[in-house]
Amino acid sequence: MLKQLTSLVCISLVVLNALAHNNGLALTPQMGWDTWNYYGCSISEQTILDAAQGFIKYDLPKYGYNYVVMDDCWQAPARNATTGAPIADPTKFPSGMKALADQIHSMGLKFGIYSSAGMYTCGGHFGSLGYETIDAQTYAEWGADYLKYDNCYNEGQAGTPKLSYDRYANMSFALNATGRPILYSMCNWGEDGPWNFAPTIANSWRISGDIYDNYNRFDERCPCLSMIDCKLAGYHCAMTRIIDFAAPVGQKAGTNHWNDLDMLEVGNGGMTYDEYVTHFSMWSILKSPLILGNNVLNMTNETLEIITNDAIIAVNQDSTGSAAERMWKVPVFSGGDLSSWSGSLVNNTFVIALLNTSPETQYVTVNFTDVFIDQGPSYQTGTYVIYDLWQKDSAGAWGKDIGTYTAAIPDVEIGMHQVRIWKAVPASTNSRRDLAEL
Ligand code: GLA
Repeated sequence: MLKQLTSLVCISLVVLNALAHNNGLALTPQMGWDTWNYYGCSISEQTILDAAQGFIKYDLPKYGYNYVVMDDCWQAPARNATTGAPIADPTKFPSGMKALADQIHSMGLKFGIYSSAGMYTCGGHFGSLGYETIDAQTYAEWGADYLKYDNCYNEGQAGTPKLSYDRYANMSFALNATGRPILYSMCNWGEDGPWNFAPTIANSWRISGDIYDNYNRFDERCPCLSMIDCKLAGYHCAMTRIIDFAAPVGQKAGTNHWNDLDMLEVGNGGMTYDEYVTHFSMWSILKSPLILGNNVLNMTNETLEIITNDAIIAVNQDSTGSAAERMWKVPVFSGGDLSSWSGSLVNNTFVIALLNTSPETQYVTVNFTDVFIDQGPSYQTGTYVIYDLWQKDSAGAWGKDIGTYTAAIPDVEIGMHQVRIWKAVPASTNSRRDLAEL
């Protein structure tokens, strides 16, 4: 009897303490939009509804985008003085959060909210440290489906993985205890190595300081070249800097727990077409959440074309959930470097990428000995049908068959700041079915 009682207590403890990462969400990296990169603090009910309207106008849910996330600066000056519950700014959100969430839901979309695991948010509004339970409950009552949870004003509760884990786990428990599935998107900028401590508590975690809409500019505010041996996350991190941060930690992610490379800048104007193609491609193959950060109510054809490339999105959303890895990286004399990446996809297919961050056109032979270093000799000498995921086939679909290659793809020309993303299908298994999956 005592034994039975003990196991019952254990089971209830497990249930009580269940963490939010195991909430059935983010089986593949989440996709959506967030207010911050485009609007900063200038948000209101209208900006959120405009974005939701943009989702419908451009048919974005068809491609997988479904979360509309309201970032910082939605809060009233203070919490409810009696209950401690969070309150939305009544001027910016006159209808209230529940009505806003209802409206987003009625459009077939999901609603995300933001707070910080600190006294204040980064924008100086009230944070959730010490208020995890009431905040999670209130978000659930409002109908939130997603929480982005920041790291500002954390009162020194950081500096070791244990301190960060405990602080973020509190919200994970609180979210789970609401009974509402709420995707938990941690945003502690890579501090204390969330790829090591967060996979069991969150659906995703930011790996670096804030992205800046620039290809490669070095900025003292983002001083590290790696997040492994350099502590200061900073902000104003150029896009290719974040690719370098992500390279060593890709395999820490997987189904329901992802490395978040930060919100996309595609469409915000700071990069060229080729650079945005690189941005979207690399975020996709590294299995980052794809959270748009531009004005989604008004997009140019170019922007729309990039963010709706369904062959690239399919790589991001591939059910194996395995991030591509950097196979090699060589510096280029004039600056930047050339690197080769590969990753596994379902049905024994693969993604291969070539990235040229140098200011010059490069010529390179992609050897299958490098691509298939993990798979071994039979793969390295194999024959593959190669699809270029940034070219369209004769029917206008992304993913053009560019030929059959054995042992290497020779003499690839790749221009300045360009990327090549290929899907490799073993020739023996290539079929219409594989084509349809592109
Ligand atoms: C931090 C986060 C950003 C954004 C702002 C809001 O800088 O990293 O993504 O949420 O706070 O203040």
